[in-house]
Amino acid sequence: MNQDQLKQMVGEAARDEVLKLPAGQILGVGTGSTANCFIDALAPHKDHFSGTVSSSNATTERLLKHGFKVLDPNDVNKLPAYVDGADEIDPAGHMIKGGGGALTREKIIASMANQFICICDSSKQVPILGNFALPVEVIPLAKGVVSRELEKMGGQVTLRPAKSIRTDLNQTPSEPFVTDNGGWILDVAGLKITDPINMEAQINQIAGVITVGLFAKEKANILLVSNASGVSRISL
Ligand code: 5RP
Repeated sequence: MNQDQLKQMVGEAARDEVLKLPAGQILGVGTGSTANCFIDALAPHKDHFSGTVSSSNATTERLLKHGFKVLDPNDVNKLPAYVDGADEIDPAGHMIKGGGGALTREKIIASMANQFICICDSSKQVPILGNFALPVEVIPLAKGVVSRELEKMGGQVTLRPAKSIRTDLNQTPSEPFVTDNGGWILDVAGLKITDPINMEAQINQIAGVITVGLFAKEKANILLVSNASGVSRISL
């Protein structure tokens, strides 16, 4: 079974999970290739929800294409659930996210939800976070000062280059990747994240940081994880 099939399988399991929620509520929807599988699987059942709140422009586009209603987060108080992938998840449900650059809106929408349902294949499960470089979204003019602070913490910092996913901005790979919020992303390698709660708070305090892709306060509550033998559901 290849990774695309594993993503599809867990996307379908997440569809079944959210269809257990009472009808007529608003659902938070994440960003990335696994979240896309979930959106596609849920599309035939979109009327179960009165609307969605989206974590990125890319997700909004996909939801609208399927005919979901997409609401402004400012018009929504609470969400029963937020469904999203992760780049790494530890046994307590703390995650590294932001590989797709949507970490800020993802964290905002996650904070509005009663439960975070994380969906991934088992390659994302790790004993300690930090093998995947930690994304930190920054105000562009603070790149230098934030990088120096992250280096003092033991990180090796790389400014994320533009990728073809931002074709809307006609960017070339020699330019920085620009997030939906106009921020830049520093990818920080070499951090061994043994205390995610404290590290999240510490990085949040650096002036110029918009969001750190460490989801410790907004950790996962339910993990749906796929491998060749099927999907496991783990309460965290
Ligand atoms: C985007 C994210 C994604 O959830 C994360 O990168 C996982 O993506 P994928 O499902 O494509 O592996 O945080 O900002």
